[in-house]
Amino acid sequence: MEDFTGKYSIIANALSRRFGNFTAVDKVSFKVKEGEIFGLLGPNGAGKTTTISMLSTIIGITSGSATINGKDVGKEKDAVRKLIGIVFQDPSLDDELTGMENLDFHARLYGVKGKEKKDAIAKVLKLVELEDKANKQVKTYSGGMKRRLEIARGFIHNPKVLFLDEPTIGLDPQTRRKIWDYVQKLNKETKLTIMLTTHYIEEADELCSRVAIIDHGRIIKLDTPERLKDSLGGDIIRIGSDAPGRLAELIRKGKFTVSVKERGDSIEVTTKNGSEAIPKIIGIAQKAGIEVAYTTLKRPTLEDVFISLTGKEIREEGASDTDQLKRNFRFRGRR
Ligand SMILES: Nc1ncnc2c1ncn2[C@@H]1O[C@H](COP(=O)(O)OP(=O)(O)OP(=O)(O)O)[C@@H](O)[C@H]1O
Ligand SMILES: [Mg+2]
Repeated sequence: MEDFTGKYSIIANALSRRFGNFTAVDKVSFKVKEGEIFGLLGPNGAGKTTTISMLSTIIGITSGSATINGKDVGKEKDAVRKLIGIVFQDPSLDDELTGMENLDFHARLYGVKGKEKKDAIAKVLKLVELEDKANKQVKTYSGGMKRRLEIARGFIHNPKVLFLDEPTIGLDPQTRRKIWDYVQKLNKETKLTIMLTTHYIEEADELCSRVAIIDHGRIIKLDTPERLKDSLGGDIIRIGSDAPGRLAELIRKGKFTVSVKERGDSIEVTTKNGSEAIPKIIGIAQKAGIEVAYTTLKRPTLEDVFISLTGKEIREEGASDTDQLKRNFRFRGRR
């Protein structure tokens, strides 16, 4: 780890979970700093929900260990439960009750009473801007409003650590941004440590201070989004030309690139500063009498990081949010 001297809210030590012979989570280790937003990014079935479920004491650990604010998730379940809030991947509100009643029920479950309860409910409703809707039945809420209410409910008992499992799954991009704003506000205003799972690249990139990339139950890389992206070596330029082989050779000789790869008719160049490299490349081509058909410049995303580490995309071919929701619905029974 780097030179961090503060406290860790979550420590996972070779945490594993098997279902029969199948290893869903395979010796994951990480430390989440107090007050940070830490993300687990990975494709369907990577082991994100299973990891969060172990940390929040919902399912048992097969091997390894983990602590929340120093409390052991295997041995001190009650103490851990008092410290945490959870927002599940699957909706878990009571549709027939009003937003207020849902919050009230949850507060009582955690022993929050009287004026403290009233204040807590008012505070969380304000934070997610649902004061107007508080006395309406949840079945009249939009998907985004339900999500906001669930997040509000997750921290009503003033937890130290909040787990959000796919907080924006199935929501449209605009609502997703709104939720990000609330999560950031919550993190800033209450210094709450947040651990979230997501398979949305942008969500991990925009929201998380650090991201663990998880695939097949293993953490394959863990760092800040910036450093993960930088690890690819820089910007990616694609150049179409009538002589890709010759041009690639000439670009390599220029020595301003990290790598030059031929990809069919085009060339893929990785370089520290893409916008400065493009005119250089065009200059080289012109001098050699090679015609450049097009150039494109792309800053690497966490998706590119994932592809370079695993050879595949995070999003399964053709899998939509609806497929994802259906799939999760099938798994509902397991909690
Ligand atoms: N109760 C269970 N019994 C058997 N297998 C399970 C159980 N729960 C999870 N699994 C398997 O463990 C693997 C990890 O599942 P998990 O739900 O943790 O993935 P995930 O990363 O949260 O995926 P998603 O993005 O779809 O939510 C999957 O292959 C899943 O089928
Ligand atoms: Mg999941």
